[in-house]
Amino acid sequence: MAQVESNKQQPGSADTPDGAGSLDTGVRVWPSKRYAEMHRRSMEDPQGFWSDQARKLDWYKTWDRVLDWDAPYAHWFVGGKLNASYQCVDRHVKTWRRSKVAIYWEGEAGETRVLSYSTLFREVNHCAAVLQKLGVQKGDRVALYLPMVPELPIFMLACARIGATHTVIFSGFSAQSIADRVNDTGTKLIVTADGGYRRGKVVALKEITDEAVKMCPSVEKVIVVKRTGQKAPMKEGRDFWLSDLLGDGESQPKVKPEALDSAHPLYILYTSGTTGKPKGVVHGTGGYMVYNHSAYQWVFDIKEDSVYWCTADVGWVTGHSCIVYAPLSHGAAIVLYEGAPDYPSVHRWWDIVQKYGVTIFYTSPTAVRLFMRYGPEWPQKHDMSSLELLGSVGEPINPEAWRWYYKYIGGERCPIVDTWWQTETGGIMISPTPGIEPVPLKPGSATFPLPGIDAAVVDSDGKETLPRQTGYLTIRKPWPGMLVDIYGAPDRYKEAYWSRFPGSYYTGDFAMRDEDGYFWLLGRADEVLKVAGHRIGTAEVEDAVVSYPDVAEAAVAGKPDPVKGEAIVLFVTLKQGVSASPALKDGLVKHLRRVIGPVATPDEIYFVDSLPKTRSGKIMRRVLKAVASEQKLGDLTTLEDETSVEEVKRAYESLKGLSGGVKEKG
Ligand code: WT7
Repeated sequence: MAQVESNKQQPGSADTPDGAGSLDTGVRVWPSKRYAEMHRRSMEDPQGFWSDQARKLDWYKTWDRVLDWDAPYAHWFVGGKLNASYQCVDRHVKTWRRSKVAIYWEGEAGETRVLSYSTLFREVNHCAAVLQKLGVQKGDRVALYLPMVPELPIFMLACARIGATHTVIFSGFSAQSIADRVNDTGTKLIVTADGGYRRGKVVALKEITDEAVKMCPSVEKVIVVKRTGQKAPMKEGRDFWLSDLLGDGESQPKVKPEALDSAHPLYILYTSGTTGKPKGVVHGTGGYMVYNHSAYQWVFDIKEDSVYWCTADVGWVTGHSCIVYAPLSHGAAIVLYEGAPDYPSVHRWWDIVQKYGVTIFYTSPTAVRLFMRYGPEWPQKHDMSSLELLGSVGEPINPEAWRWYYKYIGGERCPIVDTWWQTETGGIMISPTPGIEPVPLKPGSATFPLPGIDAAVVDSDGKETLPRQTGYLTIRKPWPGMLVDIYGAPDRYKEAYWSRFPGSYYTGDFAMRDEDGYFWLLGRADEVLKVAGHRIGTAEVEDAVVSYPDVAEAAVAGKPDPVKGEAIVLFVTLKQGVSASPALKDGLVKHLRRVIGPVATPDEIYFVDSLPKTRSGKIMRRVLKAVASEQKLGDLTTLEDETSVEEVKRAYESLKGLSGGVKEKG
């Protein structure tokens, strides 16, 4: 494990982006020579650089060309053939790693399962055979709506093995969300469970699936994993218990991994954007696997003897890259934990760290802030000396939370890698890289782009900004982990990522660099909220709100939240004759949870007479944001629309006083 030499001074380095109270780090050159050399080479000779990285994987056939850049489409390792399931499983069972642990699973109620690589190999083979038996073929899409049980990574790898493209649907999503995703992909088969546990309660996943399937004409078969043991209605000829399909397991044949084209779609994962329904981000096989394998060595210095715990749900991209594909491709042991962080007690996570001797721990700032609230005495009751490295992901980490994490979880011993990336980027893009060479860390900065990543902060004309000037984060060169398309919507792909700054990938994030060249990520620049690290499009929530019968119009704004980072605030106008009431508010919240899922639960609802709009009818989001966050309006000199400063101020003043019976706590 690489250690950061200057660890002890890290929290004393420059801290806030505006420099308030920051100390001079004295760093004025690229802080790490080896990193700088690697990054320079990757920029000067990207093809040679990525070709060297790709050789670390096993290929059935090596590529003819490293990259065909048919902007904005990148084709990586053209002509190459490989299989992601082979990388994560087969290549290990050929070595001593066959008998080492692949997965430590910890159920919410305290049950455990430990899977060695050879067990994982057997189970992936059996589930691949089951999929084939039910008619799944190469090129088909398979939806996985499962809780955090070993069958989730097993089915992902089983799909990858036979060349079926998986689309994992977070188990907190509603029937409507499942139906939207299944219908968009034309999925014929769904794998689900009878139920899942959430804080001791059972969520009836099979029932939710049944409700979804009623809206999904393409679905022919449903496989059900037994988890909670509750009654699940089974439809003859359509629904099958996994245990029945597997039988005693012995009769299941081995399934040879398909030699797939590098571009073969490994998975589709839906994420919220600024308009319309969530977009199906498509990731390929070769580029994605090469990128994540490399990133994991650089960022986490991961080894086959690492015990790696990423606390995300597999339903998000973090779970895809950081629980399944990257750590397993390195032959590490992963921890898979089914339940909530503080259930049944605040000891739970730290118990798990101690029990399995976790060496690398990766979580979100929201979780760190949750534990900060409980106080340091909880982690302090556990022996967490196994930890070597900590990671943060999903939203900006405030310096206060960074310091707490560093001190009380990492024992002032473990570097923190603050990793910036997105569903679309496939893997970590900006982060310290202790696996190459340590750099002095600055709490709240994700430091530098990984080798191969040409990140730039630009103004609205696409010109690079000066140090400490806020701008838009863009990526100027394609990279192997990059999404290959938006499923069934190439126009959305081009429009969302490649139209704002022609030739560059637009991230939708604000950022700035300081005088040392460090990157600071400053939150979304578009109409996307980050609630507890989860991405939620305001348009998506607004559409769901206006589908409620009593609602005329709706607008959503984010408000700063001390734990979740951001919370959802709704502004709603009601149809004529309807008046605001607690019952209406309750109904609306339930409706949102039903249409999108609990992630869309608002913290506050304001019933208003009208929404502030510009003359051309656009909602004045800046006004709503200021009202929601109880902040001043701020600088109005850069109003991008035709509305006058006076009109904006008037709208703000008329809403500002909202209180009492109007402001409803969610
Ligand atoms: C958005 C992507 C891929 C990780 C899980 C989230 C924000 C992510 C950081 C960070 C500041 C961050 C950005 C980005 N974000 N990591 N370390 N510092 N902001 O994936 O749901 O696709 O969200 O998360 O705003 O655009 P996602």
